[in-house]
Amino acid sequence: MNMDNNSKKIVLSGIRPTGQLHLGNYLGALSNFVKMQNEGKYDSYYFIADLHALTTNPDPKELHTNVRHILAEYLAAGLDPEKSTIFVQSDVPEVSEMYLLLNMHVGIGELMRTAAFKDKARKALGITAPNQGDDDEDVAKEIIGASTNKRVNAGLLTYPTLMAVDILIQRADFVPVGKDQEQHLELTRRFARRFNSFYKTEYFTEPQNFNFGSAPVKVPGLDGSGKMGKSEGNCIYLVDEEKVIRKKVMRAVTDGGPTEPNQPMAEPVQNLFTILKLVGTPDKVEYFTEAYNNCSIRYGDLKKEIAEDIVAMTTPIRERILDIENDSAYLHRVLEMGAERARARASKTLADVREIMGITKF
Ligand code: ADP
Ligand code: TRP
Repeated sequence: MNMDNNSKKIVLSGIRPTGQLHLGNYLGALSNFVKMQNEGKYDSYYFIADLHALTTNPDPKELHTNVRHILAEYLAAGLDPEKSTIFVQSDVPEVSEMYLLLNMHVGIGELMRTAAFKDKARKALGITAPNQGDDDEDVAKEIIGASTNKRVNAGLLTYPTLMAVDILIQRADFVPVGKDQEQHLELTRRFARRFNSFYKTEYFTEPQNFNFGSAPVKVPGLDGSGKMGKSEGNCIYLVDEEKVIRKKVMRAVTDGGPTEPNQPMAEPVQNLFTILKLVGTPDKVEYFTEAYNNCSIRYGDLKKEIAEDIVAMTTPIRERILDIENDSAYLHRVLEMGAERARARASKTLADVREIMGITKF
């Protein structure tokens, strides 16, 4: 691998270690990381965002276990430490210093208007129904005036600064993330532009989202509506055993079945077809679509097909996860190598940023 090849564009992405990865994380994020790595056109940096996970105050033991899970899942899905730089965010202390520096150019108002912040702040304060229209003000008032002992921690507010630093410190060109992260990426571009214009420099380039020319994938849940997500409790995990996967899929919500030819599909049924398209072959999709349209479909057969396709996709990954997770020496080696490379690039950026900002030696 040639880490000094400056002509290659830099790709960077991360996932918070808040639990084990599910099919949504895999099809929406991780499988793209692997694909980009294997194209060989980029220098790729993939990390585990443990400092970001701290914003929701996890149990320390659980956090540590979750970092191990994600690392094993990255490797089992095909990320290769010889081709990509794989690291843990907190192993790069330069990130924390640059987070302090960049915060001097970030407004608390713009942070408070971020959708993800408003969501999490409401959760922390126990506000359930946001008032339509004036919800920015609503959250602000609650935070400043809160008379309860609940609090919204400052780390949650500055989450976007930290994410911008992850990206800017590695001078990334492309950041493959799902739709839910686009606002954070937009803020990153704004902070980069602001820094450049304040210090009259062209130092940072503006990072772009990346997917392979197609719309971002959204894997639906099996409960009829919405997306598959940890907090939704509707996930198929990469580590789920075959029989668990079968059971979860067979329980998926459907409807009474089509009664007229070419009837429009209800959302839960559409969701099953969306999953089939992601995990199955085109001829199977065609077969079941035809069966739906001529009212001969049996949802039990459709679910069996989906379950078998998911099992075929995840079983090899699952087996590798279990092997890798127990190999502490290997995990240690991977992270040591990753931290060294990630720090090399980060410390160069940090030194430049310190100098640009006027923190120079006497
Ligand atoms: P979760 O919603 O389960 O907590 P995260 O927010 O930690 O997942 O997401 C990690 C990555 O996985 C992000 O890039 C996100 O866009 C992607 N992702 C999560 N759920 C899905 C889904 N159902 N479909 C597609 N991508 C997803
Ligand atoms: N905020 C991202 C998420 O919740 C995780 C993340 C942190 C990230 N830093 C990043 C993603 C930098 C891409 C680039 O999924």
